[in-house]
Amino acid sequence: MCGIVGYIGHKKAYPILVKGLQRLEYRGYDSAGVALISDGGHLNVYKAKGKVADLEAYCEDKDTTGCAGIAHTRWATHGEPSSTNAHPHYSASGRLALIHNGIIENYLTLKEKLISFGIPFKSVTDTEVLVQLIEHVMLSNSLTLLEAVQVALHQVIGAYAIAILDREHPDGIVCARQSSPLVVGLGADGDFYLASDASPIAEYTDTVAYLNDGDIAVLQLGQELKVVNIDNEAQHPKVKQIDVTLGQLEKGGYPFFMLKEIFEQPACLRDCMRGRINVDADRITLSAVIDYRECLVSARRIVIVACGTSWHAGLIGKQLIESLCRIPVEVEYASEFRYRDPVIYPDDVVIAISQSGETADTLAAIELARQAGAFVFGVCNAIGASIPRQTQTGVYIHVGPEIGVASTKAFTGQVTVLSMLALCIAHERGTIRDDQYREMVRELTLIPAKMEEALLRNEQIERLAPIFTYARNCLYLGRGYNYPVALEGALKLKEISYIHAEGYPAAEMKHGPIALIDSEMPVFVIATRDHLYDKVISNIQEVRARGGRITAIVTEGDTQIQKFADHIIVLPDTFECFQPLIASIPLQLLAYHIAVCKGKDVDRPRNLAKSVTVE
Ligand code: F6R
Repeated sequence: MCGIVGYIGHKKAYPILVKGLQRLEYRGYDSAGVALISDGGHLNVYKAKGKVADLEAYCEDKDTTGCAGIAHTRWATHGEPSSTNAHPHYSASGRLALIHNGIIENYLTLKEKLISFGIPFKSVTDTEVLVQLIEHVMLSNSLTLLEAVQVALHQVIGAYAIAILDREHPDGIVCARQSSPLVVGLGADGDFYLASDASPIAEYTDTVAYLNDGDIAVLQLGQELKVVNIDNEAQHPKVKQIDVTLGQLEKGGYPFFMLKEIFEQPACLRDCMRGRINVDADRITLSAVIDYRECLVSARRIVIVACGTSWHAGLIGKQLIESLCRIPVEVEYASEFRYRDPVIYPDDVVIAISQSGETADTLAAIELARQAGAFVFGVCNAIGASIPRQTQTGVYIHVGPEIGVASTKAFTGQVTVLSMLALCIAHERGTIRDDQYREMVRELTLIPAKMEEALLRNEQIERLAPIFTYARNCLYLGRGYNYPVALEGALKLKEISYIHAEGYPAAEMKHGPIALIDSEMPVFVIATRDHLYDKVISNIQEVRARGGRITAIVTEGDTQIQKFADHIIVLPDTFECFQPLIASIPLQLLAYHIAVCKGKDVDRPRNLAKSVTVE
């Protein structure tokens, strides 16, 4: 995920900026850059693909003087990772340099307009559009930088945290935020620090102002912090004293990345849907479906290949695609598929799902499918990874780097992309009614808010967790869309708490695992209200009759299940097919809190790697 650092004051800016970028490295990125107004009054921009260390190496023989600068780590969204696409971006005249976190949704429309005025573009990023727009507005109307930013942001749709340097005014930085965080640090000597989170600032000052959405701040040397909105009305962001260690700050105040990533999910899913679902929330546009409509719409069969958590997302994708698009779907472990001599037809669509985009087995499965002439579609998180490069097309999940080894936000991101994909294909194939399509698209946009409600169960789950610490085995049961949720819940527990757990289709339990049930066996049942609800109640009773200890995940308003369960966790209602997005949250939290109670290193579980690049 992109990171921002800025400094203006009496010290040399470059070392502060580089150190700040290093503090943001934990967010993951693919390129870095810095802009400085040198002692000689030049606006110098230096950028490099790769690590901050690569940027430092590049800058070794460059002029890095100056007490004003902005710097950025980029995690590619629009355009591949490269030094050209890295930030900062110069304006056409070279007077301004701008860095940006977020996504400008209407950048193509703005870009076309700017090109028609003869403004050249060097990169394919949405960010360059911003700097060109601001300069164009500034020069053609003789405005100050602040005024130009206000006018330009009136035209912009999307999310941004931006910072801008103006060569003609070397004693100031203008910055703004909308749906992307920005923190200003107030130094004791009148210096200003700026960053996308407080970690690069904390070692210089403990006094910070967190900008609010719509705020535009002017950091002017020798003056108080000035904050206004796009209509130039004064704003008063709260100035706070921060009292946290750097380690905590990098994790956004959470003790582990996994917990941070669980809590990030509502924001991540908004990012995932942004620019794909329109503002009226009634249409999904996936460019991959537009570009390859024929292949997708006329697919005779879809084969999903993936591993681990991504395979669980695939099982949910299967149900979505089969029920909405009426195309048969098979879900394969990539490691089995690649060695099984599978039947692959040239009119098959193979969907490869992978968070890292580097999983060796999934890559091998893709190669096999390509050789057989199938159309291969990728669902990936890591931009520019091998899987997006080796598939004909695909959709990024855009949930930002996942650092905790146990996958959480990538899973819900994958399910969200598969939901959008299924709805798009179904709409194109005419296997869904128009009103039904619109209703489902709208419901999908409500999922982040419902996830926020589900996250309110955190304290309850934290209190429950110690009860399960001594379990040696746990059983997770679910049916229909909730069966993969049970599998994923069990996998999360195994991975980080080292308690053995099995996910099972609830009705299948009586064909074997029921023998394991006794009063020491915790059984987690996902029993949300869907068309199998009554059947699941019967399964709960079967467990109850054998002394099993039941924790049930239920829908709000449920009055039945509490009669049979030891504990219930209540979730907001949604459509059956989107329930996995909500029901996964308490199971992620449960695994997390149980592992913490057991004193495990949640982010780095033993024997596991974040990216499995060996078969
Ligand atoms: C579980 C987990 C793994 C991965 C699997 C595939 O929490 O993270 O099971 O899902 O190794 O990895 P990707 O999705 O990167 O292909």
